[in-house]
Amino acid sequence: MNDTIIVMGGGIIGLSCALELRRRGAEVRLLETASCGGQASGAAAGMLAPYSENLEAPDAFFMLCRESLQLYPAWQQQIRELTGMDFEYTACGSLYVAYHEADLLALESRMNWQRDYGSSAVVLQDQELFDAEPGLSRKAIAALLTPEEHHIYAPDFVKALKAACLQEGVRIHEHLDALDLVEWKDRIEVRARSGRAFTGDQLLVCTGAWAGAMSDLLGVRIPVQPIRGQICAYAWGENRTPLNHMVFCSQGYMVQKGNGTLVCGASEDIAGFDSSVTERGIRRLMQWNHKVVPVLEGLKPFHRWAGLRPSTLDGQPLIGRLPHADRVLLAAGHYRNGILLSPVTAMLAADCAEGKPLPAWQQAFRPDRFGTAVTRVDAAGAAHAMRRSCP
Ligand code: GLY
Repeated sequence: MNDTIIVMGGGIIGLSCALELRRRGAEVRLLETASCGGQASGAAAGMLAPYSENLEAPDAFFMLCRESLQLYPAWQQQIRELTGMDFEYTACGSLYVAYHEADLLALESRMNWQRDYGSSAVVLQDQELFDAEPGLSRKAIAALLTPEEHHIYAPDFVKALKAACLQEGVRIHEHLDALDLVEWKDRIEVRARSGRAFTGDQLLVCTGAWAGAMSDLLGVRIPVQPIRGQICAYAWGENRTPLNHMVFCSQGYMVQKGNGTLVCGASEDIAGFDSSVTERGIRRLMQWNHKVVPVLEGLKPFHRWAGLRPSTLDGQPLIGRLPHADRVLLAAGHYRNGILLSPVTAMLAADCAEGKPLPAWQQAFRPDRFGTAVTRVDAAGAAHAMRRSCP
């Protein structure tokens, strides 16, 4: 591919797409209004958990997640080899814990469909469960073990991706403050507030929770809204037994990180573009954390933070080319699964940029599936909209 492609957004999706596009021969310029990985990607707990995040019967979204999980071993290995950087890719499996007899049937039914879709899931009970995860509360009656689910340390993974992009020749421009898309029909031109202009043949929009700002300009409904996730981490002293698995329950999740901390997440609240933590949000996590892992009783998290998950109206990402603006592609709205979905999104976005047809089941993620924008505005108005939403 000889095209010059402008990638807007330096989160994990933008960086992954930039890397794959560059590998396929494109000239790639990645534009970021602030710092790469400074939003949801750097705040994520880093779980690669398509089975635990999709509790019901598998659908196209689950298949996308599972495909990405399968790409991860080779994808992360390439990034590690390219950069020599580590990001704690940890193959630990997950436990989804139940506390009531009535939940056992649901665990078994999940185990059955997970097995049909490539997992060697098994339900653990009684001593078998506590042998596998000694730190769990004895009130747990069973857990679904899904060995195929892993995690990475997301902030370090984003740094490694950025380094890999630079090494492969992606040109990354950060701290651009605000970006205006001034031309997208005959060619692509994006202007930074400093006056600097970036031109290309195609544009890939990977602006996460801010992607909706392009709706009016592009004449397509991009219903992405930020859903705040508040997370906390406990210092996991030497005298405590670390968790062997990621632990999920109906209230949230816990992930043991290599630096000895236990990351617990996450709230789901609507607060616009406010990514601050609240006492209420963290208290809610603390109320159930120690019920799952009793040794946390009385401990205070040493670190609290929040990220803005980009959620679409149907909770599924927007991936592909806009039919009526054929130089423009979207890869946004990955909601709770941006880290997991980054390799498959990179492959699909690069396929689209190369003009390859997407498989029929990918139509579920078409970026124009929500219809046209209600209002169109002129270029000046649209530029204003983007500034407002890309601080
Ligand atoms: N994927 C975990 C979260 O969004 O909190």
